Amino acid sequence: MRIAVIGTGYVGLVSGACFSEFGVEVTCVDNDAAKIGRLEKGEIPIFEPGLEQLVATNKAAGRLRFTTDLRAAVAGADAVFIAVGTPSRRGDGHADLSYVFAAAEEVAAALTGYAVIVTKSTVPVGTGRKVEEIVRRKRPDAPFDVASNPEFLREGSAIGDFMRPDRVVIGAESERARTVMKELYRPLFLLETPILFTALETAELIKYAANSFLATKIAFINEIADLCEKVGADVQDVARGIGLDGRIGRKFLHAGPGFGGSCFPKDCLALVRTAQEAGAPVSIIETVLTGNDRRKAQMAERIVRACGGSVAGKTVAALGLTFKPNTDDMRDSPSLAIIPALQAAGATVRAFDPEGMGEAKKLLNGVTFCASAYEAMEGAHALVIITEWNEFRALDLGRVKSLLKSPTVVDLRDIYKPDDMAEAGFYYFSIGRDAAEPARAERRASRNR
Ligand SMILES: NC(=O)c1ccc[n+]([C@@H]2O[C@H](COP(=O)([O-])OP(=O)(O)OC[C@H]3O[C@@H](n4cnc5c(N)ncnc54)[C@H](O)[C@@H]3O)[C@@H](O)[C@H]2O)c1
Repeated sequence: MRIAVIGTGYVGLVSGACFSEFGVEVTCVDNDAAKIGRLEKGEIPIFEPGLEQLVATNKAAGRLRFTTDLRAAVAGADAVFIAVGTPSRRGDGHADLSYVFAAAEEVAAALTGYAVIVTKSTVPVGTGRKVEEIVRRKRPDAPFDVASNPEFLREGSAIGDFMRPDRVVIGAESERARTVMKELYRPLFLLETPILFTALETAELIKYAANSFLATKIAFINEIADLCEKVGADVQDVARGIGLDGRIGRKFLHAGPGFGGSCFPKDCLALVRTAQEAGAPVSIIETVLTGNDRRKAQMAERIVRACGGSVAGKTVAALGLTFKPNTDDMRDSPSLAIIPALQAAGATVRAFDPEGMGEAKKLLNGVTFCASAYEAMEGAHALVIITEWNEFRALDLGRVKSLLKSPTVVDLRDIYKPDDMAEAGFYYFSIGRDAAEPARAERRASRNR
C-alpha cells in the first residue's frame, strides 16, 4: 500500500509515521519548505514523545519520505489523506476550510489512477461532499472515492493513541473505498480495535460530537469545583465519586483553569455554528464555550486575590505555558489569557515551560522567560502553576520557599495537597478544595504582607 499525507503537522506527521510503522509506504507532504527541510535532516518540528525515534526508524527503512512535491506524492497512491489545519475563521467561528479545499484542488490535479481521498482534518458535516465536488469538477473522468477518517489522537500521547485507538471511524460509501481503508488499518483489525464504518456525514459529526462532549465534561467539573469552594466539598473526591460510575467514567473530570488547545475551543465553536445553520442549535455547547471563556478570565482574578488584592508592582512566577503537558502546542492555551491579564493588572511575569517556550515567545510579550522552574521563582511574590508538567509535581518545597518573596502558591491544576502545603508554610490556593482554606489563606497572606 502507498499513501500520501497532505499536511505534516501534529496529525499528519504522527499519522504518516504510524502508517509507515504499519508497513505502508508513506509520503508526507507540506507546503512549508522549511518544515520539510528539517524533517529531511531528521529534525522533528514539534515536541511529541516517541516521535523522533519512530520517524527515524521508518525513514531509515525507506517507508517514510518527506516532500513539498504534492504531485509526485499523490501519483500512484492508494489513498491520499488530507491533514491540513482547519482553524476557526476570524469573525464568525466557522471552521476555515480554505486549506482543505486548496489541498483538494491540488490532489485532483495530481491523480493518476484510482485513489481514496480521505479527510483526516476535523471538518464540518458536508465537507467530504464538497471535496468530492471539487475533485469531480476538476477531473470529471478520474476514478476516485472520498472518505472521512477523523483523528482522535491526543497531543502528548499521540503515537499510543494512533497505534492503539479506542476505535477507528471511517465514513465511506463505496465497497472499494472501504476495502482500501480496511487494508490500511489491517494491523488494528488484528488487534480487534472496533472499526466503525458509517456514512460520510456521520463520521464528520462523530468527531465534533466527541470533542464537544469531552469539553462539556471539563466545563461541568469546573462548575462543580466552584460550587465545592462555596459549600466546603472537595472536587477531587466528587470527581472520583462520580467517575467510578461506569456510565460517567473518570477521565476528563479534572478541574482546572478552563480548556484550551488546538481542538476543543475551535471544534465546539464550529459545531455551534453548524448547528445554528442547520436550525438545531446545541445550546449546551454554547453555554460550555461562554463559561470556559469566563473561567479563563476569572483565573487571573483569583491570582490577584491570592496576592492580597493587587499585583501592581509585584512579580508572578508562572510554571507551564502550553495548553497541557507533553506538548509544545500553545494554541488557545489558558496561559495566553491569564498572563496578559496579570500584566494588565501591573504584574511582572517570569515564566518557564519545559517545551513550550519557543512558541510562547512568539505569543506573549513582556514576559521574562527563565531557564528553569526555580529561576522563574526568584524574587516572585507568588508562584502560579498553570500546566501540570510532571517536573512541577515534585518541586523542592524548601527551595521554593526560599526563592519566593512571599510563600504564596496558586495551583490551578490541584497537583499539591492543601495539608502538605500548609504544613510547609505556604499560603496555598487551589481549585475546588477546602472551602474555608482559601479564605483563611487570603486573610493570613494579607496579614503577613
Ligand atoms: N492537533 C491535534 O491534536 C488534533 C487531533 C485530532 C484532529 N486534529 C485536526 O487535524 C487537523 C490538522 O491539525 P494539526 O494540529 O495537525 O495542524 P497543524 O497546523 O499542526 O498542521 C497543518 C499542516 O498543514 C500544512 N498545509 C496547509 N495547507 C497545505 C497544503 N495545501 N499542502 C500541503 N501542506 C499544507 C501546514 O503547513 C501545516 O504544516 C485539524 O483539522 C485539526 O482539527 C488535530
